Amino acid sequence: MTNFSDTLLQIKDRLILSDFIRKDVELTLKGREYVGNCPFHSEKTGSFFVSDEKCAFHCFGCGVSGDIFKYVMLRDGVTFPQAFKKLADLVGIELIENKSKQKNAGIYKVLEAATDFFEKNKSIVTEYMKKRELDDLTIYNTFHIGYAPNSNELYKYLINNGCKETDITKSGLFLEKYTNKFYPRFKERLIFPIYDRRNRVIAFGGRVVSNGEPKYLNSPETEIFLKHNTLYAYNIAYENVTDKKPFIVTEGYVDVITMHRYGFNTTVGTMGTALSTNHLAMLWKYSDEPIICMDGDDAGQKAMNRIARLALTALSPGKSLKFCLLPNSVDPDTFLKTEGANAMHSLLSRPISLSDFLWEEYLKELYKTDRTPEKTALWENKIFKDLETIPDNTIRRLYKSKIRSSIYNLNHSKSQRVIRKILNASAYKQLSVIERNAMCEYVLSYILVMRPALVSSMIEKLSYITFSNKSLRNFWNFIVESDDPSDVIASDKFSRVVEEIRTTGSKFYQINEQSDEELLNDWIFIFDKIVSRPAEKKEQEMASKEFAKSGSEKSWERLKALKMYSIQVQRGKNA
Ligand code: CTP
Ligand code: MN
Repeated sequence: MTNFSDTLLQIKDRLILSDFIRKDVELTLKGREYVGNCPFHSEKTGSFFVSDEKCAFHCFGCGVSGDIFKYVMLRDGVTFPQAFKKLADLVGIELIENKSKQKNAGIYKVLEAATDFFEKNKSIVTEYMKKRELDDLTIYNTFHIGYAPNSNELYKYLINNGCKETDITKSGLFLEKYTNKFYPRFKERLIFPIYDRRNRVIAFGGRVVSNGEPKYLNSPETEIFLKHNTLYAYNIAYENVTDKKPFIVTEGYVDVITMHRYGFNTTVGTMGTALSTNHLAMLWKYSDEPIICMDGDDAGQKAMNRIARLALTALSPGKSLKFCLLPNSVDPDTFLKTEGANAMHSLLSRPISLSDFLWEEYLKELYKTDRTPEKTALWENKIFKDLETIPDNTIRRLYKSKIRSSIYNLNHSKSQRVIRKILNASAYKQLSVIERNAMCEYVLSYILVMRPALVSSMIEKLSYITFSNKSLRNFWNFIVESDDPSDVIASDKFSRVVEEIRTTGSKFYQINEQSDEELLNDWIFIFDKIVSRPAEKKEQEMASKEFAKSGSEKSWERLKALKMYSIQVQRGKNA
């Protein structure tokens, strides 16, 4: 028997990395290293380097790197132990595990015989199965649903079929706490056999057929049944998965079965336990972006939230999750039976990406608070702490920048909401975006016309405003140049403009008892958010960056056009 680190070195010794990778990637020798197109992102430039000396690969394009184990993990979407085992098998190093397979053969036999027993009893629940549409032949033949009767016949059946008592004890089929050592765990329950990937029964789930508690009962964990390694119907679903048909993950047995019946045959179930990193690895092995589709109730939403956060800690380039939200308190089973396969198809065809789903979840958390700066800061810190759990540098960076811009947009749209509060909301709502800008010019003018004493402190800002209305523009140019704003406001020359400012401004903004300071605060707020045209500035910034980068004729034309536009507005202001 060899130990772990010996085996590790032996594998690296016996497998030449470039030979191994060459099966997937065309490699050419360049100096002492091999170069090819990276299998982990799409490229045509050959950024993927393999060094046999270092026993390592590295991609300068997407940043992946590692040894032969990492390569197999990434390529096959498997965990380290799985990659380890694969490679050990390949070089013919026998691991201890093979012995345990032999050891458990007896338990498998017990479970197989029990499956037969339950299937033989299913006629007792014909009515129930019909009612739940579990009675068609393909379902029988695929899922082998059975029934556990209210009797102790199972034990006898197992013994008669050559099962050993020690194996029966280990099977999880019987409760030991009773004086009768072989008291059946499942009684009067519909039985769903749970299979491993190699189509061996490893456990059972049992559902009450009338009312009773608990509704579902599962086998306990045994030597061959580990919940974090098991997904219901994985054995069937993985063979149906393709690029266009990802895994779909639902909560319940019946959900899975109904999904398969309606043609969604890549569906697996979590069986009431939380999804584990192992489950994720199982899904990612065949599907880049499995779709999570839990019940549309609170519990389902919470489960999806947990899954999303867990997924962060396991993301690698190309591998992610998608989320499909069902209507309130509906599960896939009910949804299909009431809405049909087409409705499900269209839901599944536009799932939410992990990053969008997470953002929505974060928003919900934020909206639960009163959004003071302190609480918002706490919220932001928590998000970025979550994002720190992303192991891949590139993905982490991209997530951070995506969330940062979502937060920016949030603040932006938040300001729009506050503006509505400052202004007459119902009148404001009826305006188009362009009209809103024009209206704000009037409100800014209105505040200053009503309190001319404030003009002097705003002179600087006033010259930044690009008034779109010509008479307003003239009026303010005059004031900015003059010694006393009050004179200009009171002059006959501008009486019509001032009148217009008063009537339009007062439609949207009320001046009552506000202090100078309060008015100035509102004024600056409206000025910052609307009149300083942040979108325009941003566009110019981006255009000049683009020009600096590409230097192309087209980018120059674009930048020139934007600059010309500003100059025109600026001139207009000074005209
Ligand atoms: N579950 C469980 N124990 C319970 C309830 C549920 O283990 N007491 C697990 C089962 O695997 C079940 C899944 O969680 O399939 C989803 O639960 P639920 O939505 O209640 O089950 P459904 O499959 O929708 O049940 P039903 O048979 O009523 O359609
Ligand atoms: Mn359900």
